[in-house]
Amino acid sequence: MTDPHTSDDLGARVEAAVGAALLAIEAAQTTAELQAAKAAHNGQGSALAALNASLREIAPEERKAAGQLIGGGRQQVGAAIAARQGELEAAEEAAQLEAERIDVTALPRLQRPGGRHPLTLLQEEMGDVFVGMGWEIAEGPELEHEWYNFDALNVDPDHPARSESDTFYVAPADRHLVLRTQTSPVQIRSLLTRELPVYVVAPGRVYRTDDIDATHLPVFTQLEGLAVDKGITMAHLRGTLEHLARQMFGEEARIRLRPNYFPFTEPSAEMDVWHPGMRGGARWVEWGGCGMVNPNVLRAAGVDPEVHSGFAFGMGIERTLQFRYQLDDMRDMIEGDVRFTEQFGMVI
Ligand code: PHE
Repeated sequence: MTDPHTSDDLGARVEAAVGAALLAIEAAQTTAELQAAKAAHNGQGSALAALNASLREIAPEERKAAGQLIGGGRQQVGAAIAARQGELEAAEEAAQLEAERIDVTALPRLQRPGGRHPLTLLQEEMGDVFVGMGWEIAEGPELEHEWYNFDALNVDPDHPARSESDTFYVAPADRHLVLRTQTSPVQIRSLLTRELPVYVVAPGRVYRTDDIDATHLPVFTQLEGLAVDKGITMAHLRGTLEHLARQMFGEEARIRLRPNYFPFTEPSAEMDVWHPGMRGGARWVEWGGCGMVNPNVLRAAGVDPEVHSGFAFGMGIERTLQFRYQLDDMRDMIEGDVRFTEQFGMVI
């Protein structure tokens, strides 16, 4: 039996252990794999560690030479690990930089963002003017009962607006349903469902049997306003409308009230607006109707006109858009051409 610890035999074993270690180190493709190779070939339980531990059993006179042999092997392996570590770290960093590379000269994807319809945007903006003053947004159905659209608003059964030549009636006749001709029925609905005082605006679609032209649409949008409180006067109405006009058309905008008749207000007025940017130069244009809520309307909605009074107004949102942007044809608003909507920008 040969002595396992002769220096020739030890030399061969160190060489074999170092050779295996160097192969594993070279084969490692990542720093993680290198850590594993290091543990297997240079750590506790590795062949080199076992050889080192066996030094104890070697005769003292041979121990120094054997120690140098093993130490040299371990040094060689340690140096190879350090060198490979450097290579792999550099390669990994380069790969990460490549993966995170951004081409700052690349063209953006040409995706058209589109645009929300300017009527929707304006409707929200007008509503916001009132929400900013503490008012609330109210709603009502577009398919409305005749009582809300006409009777409760003090419109006589034989009033011309109720004729089939002005109003879309919806069959069967005995259900008394109409496509609402105005947002004013929301006045009644608001008074019947809310606590006083009531300060509401109601934007919404209305329907009339009008022919389409540059200034008329059979389906259009109105903004209704209603304030019912103690001590409401026409001065409050005027101030409110003036504020809205300035918000819509700029600080120089002005309004003017002309006497008119509506069954649901008394007194009633036609409201005109003036602003310097109007199409065709600064001029007065008819914007909407308004007045002090008729006591009959308050009574129909269960409000005592001896205690409370109110004002109401209603204007077309299409007309507001038209005056604000000098648009000459309302039909552009319903064609659905994205080139029209895009002019008003991409507002969320
Ligand atoms: N409802 C009326 C219309 O459509 C406008 C209006 C509203 C007038 C409120 C007075 C008060 O023409």
